[in-house]
Order: sequence, then structure tokens, then C-alpha cells
Amino acid sequence: MTDTNELKKIAGYRAAEFVEDGMVVGIGSGSTIAYVIEALGKRVAEEGLNIVGVPTSDKTRRTAAKLGIPMYNVDDVDHIDLTIDGADEIDPEFAAIKGGGAALLWEKIVAINSSRNVWVVDEGKLAPKLTHYLPVEVIPYGSDQLFKRLEAKGYKPSWRLDQNGNPVRTDSANFLIDLHPTDITDPFTLGRELTSMVGVVEHGLFLNIVDKVVVGRDNGVEIFD
Ligand code: 5RP
Repeated sequence: MTDTNELKKIAGYRAAEFVEDGMVVGIGSGSTIAYVIEALGKRVAEEGLNIVGVPTSDKTRRTAAKLGIPMYNVDDVDHIDLTIDGADEIDPEFAAIKGGGAALLWEKIVAINSSRNVWVVDEGKLAPKLTHYLPVEVIPYGSDQLFKRLEAKGYKPSWRLDQNGNPVRTDSANFLIDLHPTDITDPFTLGRELTSMVGVVEHGLFLNIVDKVVVGRDNGVEIFD
């Protein structure tokens, strides 16, 4: 069986081929997207590919800029042609959970402002139904109370903590609460419920967003669209 990183790499390099000269490209976050950035950096250096990038995290901004990709904030461009991002889990309807890397808010903002969205995953991320923990980005003020409300609803919340036991801060300085619902039978209803809770900034359910999924498999790359 092929190493997961190798699957991420072949899928990432394949996805980078969708980028064309002159495009404004939303660039996602995470270990899979690191390969997309690497591939785009090579194309910029070797082919003279001329693109502008819009990052979904500060880390992506720094990594891509180091490889010679000019990076702009989402509000500094008038459109985004294509966004390439990773995912934590994707179901057969192409509903996904994202935010394992703490970047879900910027990822969703960039995604909904993009003409097209491509997700890149290794085959282990495809699942018959969504069972991954569900990240929720929350405003720090009142977040203990919000946590209790999520607990009372049976969503088994846990704080996202760093290695020192402090709450992880997102690039927007918010906290993350990870939910462990027993079953996500209706992601649309759950998403609406979470959005309606005061203090929730955004949740990691990405629904009706993606146009193409690039999957790294043991026997090569498979593309769904
Ligand atoms: C970050 C994300 C990532 O796309 C997701 O966590 C996948 O990461 P990786 O490619 O490292 O498995 O949503 O917020």
C-alpha cells in the first residue's frame, strides 16, 4: 500500500495542472495543499507561470510567497478563478468536513468567492458518511457558555488546544470547538443550526461548494466532477 504522503503528492501535483496562466488562484491549507503549492512554485520558476494567489491561511501565504507566487488578500482581488483546497472527509454527495488544520473560516470565505473549487485528498478521506469530528470557529467572548450549549445539544464538544494546553487561536484570533456528534445524518440542517447559534463564527461543513475532487489512490489519480 502506498504511503499516504505519496498519495497526497500525486493528487496535489495533478490538481496544480488545472491552474492556467493569468489565473487568480485561491490556495488552501494543510499537508496536501503543501504539495499543490510546491508544484505551483515549480511551474512559476520553470514555465514562467503567471498567477496571483489568494491564501486561506497565514501559513499558506508565507509558503507560497517564498516560492515566488504573488499573494493578495481576498478583498484585494476582484475575482478568484479557481480555488484548490484539501478536506478532512468527503461523503459520496461531496459534502465535506474541513477545519482540521484550523483554517476553515478563511477557507470558506475564499471558496464561496471562487468561480470553481477543486478539492485534493488521498483516498482515505473518502467516506460513506461524515463521521470526522466537526470543527466550529467561535468568538472567544462567551465561548464557555456556548460550549455548554453545544454539550446540552449532545454534540460532545471539545476545545482545540495547543501543545501547552492553551486554546488554539485561528488566523482571525478566534477559538475552535470540535464537535463529535454520533451521526451527521443531515449536514444541511446541522450547518444551519450551528450558524444560528450566537458566538459561532463558522462551522466546518462545506456543502454545495466543490466542482471537482482529485483523489490520490494506490493505483493513480482519480478525478470526480
Ligand atoms: C484546514 C483544512 C485542511 O484542508 C484539512 O484539514 C486537510 O488537511 P491535510 O491535507 O493536512 O490532511 O481544512 O483547515
